[in-house]
Amino acid sequence: DTTLTILGIESSCDDTGAAVVRHAPGQPPEILSNVVFGQADLHAAFGGVVPEIAARAHVEKLDLAIERALAAADLGPRDLDGVAVTAGPGLIGGVMAGVMCAKGFAAALGLPIIGVNHLAGHALTPRLTDGLAFPYLMLLVSGGHCQFLRVTAADRFTRLGGTIDDAPGEAFDKIAKALSLPQPGGPEVERAAARGSDVITLPRPLLDRDGCDMSFSGLKTAVLRARDAALVDGTLPASTRDDICASFQAAVADILVAKSRRALDLMPEATAFAVAGGVAANGAIRAGLSDLCAERGIAFTAPPLALCTDNAAMIAWAGIERLRLGQTDDMSLAARPRWPL
Ligand code: KG4
Ligand code: ZN
Repeated sequence: DTTLTILGIESSCDDTGAAVVRHAPGQPPEILSNVVFGQADLHAAFGGVVPEIAARAHVEKLDLAIERALAAADLGPRDLDGVAVTAGPGLIGGVMAGVMCAKGFAAALGLPIIGVNHLAGHALTPRLTDGLAFPYLMLLVSGGHCQFLRVTAADRFTRLGGTIDDAPGEAFDKIAKALSLPQPGGPEVERAAARGSDVITLPRPLLDRDGCDMSFSGLKTAVLRARDAALVDGTLPASTRDDICASFQAAVADILVAKSRRALDLMPEATAFAVAGGVAANGAIRAGLSDLCAERGIAFTAPPLALCTDNAAMIAWAGIERLRLGQTDDMSLAARPRWPL
């Protein structure tokens, strides 16, 4: 086995990312650079990500992101051993922009191209940051996803359960919008929650049901009802808004912790429990999961915030893992809007 230096490219949602990761066998991987250009301000006025705008912004920013990633790593294109790119799932325009860019780059330099599943990128991140060994239990929780995965190899993921409706990140974003807080909603709701208290009674759907499926849409509806009931002359007092945020965040944390307990029951062979995805940036949720693992005596890992949300370092790392398994793609690599693990 040899040292691998891989360029990663990410453009499946509203972050344009390029990163370089290097890995020598037997040593911890090194993130040599990790560039992310967010698009939040482009979508802010629309209260959500607009796919057309996202795709165009990716096309505009990809080259610059790659140039910056190489410069920050102090490398030239010739120092690379391959190009890994998110090939799905995601907003198809953005995924296509990334795949085309990666193909051009790989073809021009004669490098192997590795198509990476965005979810695999998130799910393998704890191996990049903490050198986690297989098998481990993974909670992937983001704006578009919420699932428990049994991870037994870099290309073997089994879904143990997940949301049957909305993803928690989406609920955070919609609630922020309903409370006139800026997007993306997660960090804003967390900030407001820190000023408020968990005093509003909200449902914890599916909590009494077996297995580790989850539901968040009823919770979201209950939050909207609580807001409407608390309006004073058509406006919501700031303190009530903060209490709603604190109560909502507590409910989400309760659901995730209770279902993580069930998922751990379903995977007694797990050597660790890892959480990733944008919602894993939430302090209350991390603390709840960490307490659960302490109680269970199992190692808990949550990647640093910048590696929890969308980034290209996780894609470069997943590319290294696939390359080590001898898995590469060619110029027929397709962008896939849907791509279950
Ligand atoms: O993984 P990610 O960057 O993108 C995908 O969905 O793939 O996750 C973004 C989501 C957004 O919904 C955002 O509101 C949420 O993660 N998020 C948070 C926090 N930071 C980001 N949710 C709760 N608390 C946070 N601190
Ligand atoms: Zn993501």
